[in-house]
Amino acid sequence: MVERADYVTLEGVSKIYNPGPAQVEAVSQLGFSVRSGEFVSILGPSGCGKSTLLMMVAGLETATTGAIHIAGERVERPRLQTGIIFQDPTLLPWKSVLDNVMFPVHIQGLDEAQHRARAMSLLQMVGLTDFAEKRPHQLSGGMKQRVAICRALVTDPDLLLMDEPFSALDAITRDELNVALLDIWQRHHKTGLFVTHSIREAVFLSDRVIVMGRRPSRIVADVRIDFSRPRDVHVQESPEFTRLCTQLRDAIESQHG
Ligand SMILES: Nc1ncnc2c1ncn2[C@@H]1O[C@H](COP(=O)(O)OP(=O)(O)OP(=O)(O)O)[C@@H](O)[C@H]1O
Ligand SMILES: [Mg+2]
Repeated sequence: MVERADYVTLEGVSKIYNPGPAQVEAVSQLGFSVRSGEFVSILGPSGCGKSTLLMMVAGLETATTGAIHIAGERVERPRLQTGIIFQDPTLLPWKSVLDNVMFPVHIQGLDEAQHRARAMSLLQMVGLTDFAEKRPHQLSGGMKQRVAICRALVTDPDLLLMDEPFSALDAITRDELNVALLDIWQRHHKTGLFVTHSIREAVFLSDRVIVMGRRPSRIVADVRIDFSRPRDVHVQESPEFTRLCTQLRDAIESQHG
């Protein structure tokens, strides 16, 4: 990956849904950049426009004003090199785990053998080698989300967008998946935008955490997280971790009421 400080850029980005008397300004004049290889989390109150922001970066929603660029190219439609993970894994029930992971490869007409090997190595990384031929209904919620992670990575995207991917899971499974994601991150070194409501999750995973204010959203905090990588779960017990969480919580609470 070419190192650049402005790998993803948003300039004056606004989103107005239903223009007219009933319009909703979901995002207002948002601007920030993400460095290549950086993992950035976005926190903010419910309804402040986090998902809207991610959908615009994905090219699945158009910005009403402003411009989004990825690797110097303006985003005007979905791009093949962007992987997305949603809250709901949305697996195809009639396909095996392996075929679900391979789905983007088939859609994009990419080399079957090369990507099958990659799919198997990703499944191994998340501990699902023995489940490759199972159907989604035979998997737990956490396992399904692991499959969704593999599916998002199988085509080797340079940018990974994640919208509360672990929020429907229990706390222990969530911790496990955070560690799995960190591990994959270390090995594959993508650029990432991660939306979450969990302050601890954001601090644990990220190089930087952005806090969005109430709708129409603007940035109320942009905090660097300097813990070295690879990160150990025990970093969460350090005073610095607690200090960062408190700082972010205060920024979020300043937006309520
Ligand atoms: N397709 C749409 N049409 C009209 N309004 C929408 C649409 N999608 C979102 N909105 C509105 O835009 C605002 C921001 O929504 P968005 O889903 O981006 O928030 P969010 O920060 O992701 O919230 P949450 O944390 O609850 O997921 C909300 O007021 C929402 O009602
Ligand atoms: Mg959302």
